[in-house]
Amino acid sequence: MQKTDSKIIVALDMANETEVLTLTEQLNPQQCRLKVGKALFVSCGTQIVKRLIKDGFDVFLDLKFHDIPNTVTNACLAAQALGAWMVNVHCLGGRRMLESVANAYANIQGDKPLLIAVTLLTSMQQQDLTDIGINTPLGEQAMLLAALAKDTGMDGVVCSGHEVTSIKQQLGSNFLCVTPGIRLPDNSHDDQRRIMTPQQAIRAGSDYLVIGRAITTANNPSMVCEKINVDINK
Ligand code: C5P
Repeated sequence: MQKTDSKIIVALDMANETEVLTLTEQLNPQQCRLKVGKALFVSCGTQIVKRLIKDGFDVFLDLKFHDIPNTVTNACLAAQALGAWMVNVHCLGGRRMLESVANAYANIQGDKPLLIAVTLLTSMQQQDLTDIGINTPLGEQAMLLAALAKDTGMDGVVCSGHEVTSIKQQLGSNFLCVTPGIRLPDNSHDDQRRIMTPQQAIRAGSDYLVIGRAITTANNPSMVCEKINVDINK
């Protein structure tokens, strides 16, 4: 059941339960959703996910599954049983892996997570593709993988705010775009390079914004979250 309309997904990039709960106790499930990534999941396991869901939050399980079809399908079924709201897999796992997950989810009656695909990691540059024998220009490769994700029944992709317009144009407005690399106008860029403000990303067509440090390191995370909600709904 949908608990909130907020487009904000707060990235919990800490690996310590106390730190996470100190933050989430200041946030409200009506104002944001939460993202649990590998570091937090490896340190705190399913317990933290269950706790956050119990506290009323929608949880994006950001474990970027990439393995043989059977293994990834079982992992995605486990994520559904856990009650995740969104889960992601790597497009580079290939058509059969993606279809296997989509088919398994199609057989589920009732609530199931949104299936989101990672095209290419944004940490990868053209040389990284060349190193693994891919000579297609990076942008073209990312679009090819996004098209594969759509074709195999994924609900959407993770993409930068700069890619949203062309993805929506080529793959349709219903294909979800989940966008990290968000900074408020007065934030430091930290290690992110191709950033956008929340308003810019939403205007470009992003459906969900993954926001970490702009909220998690704020003096008043809830207030920042609320301000972003207001800004992107203007
Ligand atoms: O703190 P910041 O807003 O940069 O955090 C962004 C979050 O989005 C982190 O959890 C990071 O791992 C994730 N992410 C990203 N770029 C991608 C995919 C995910 O920054 N392409």
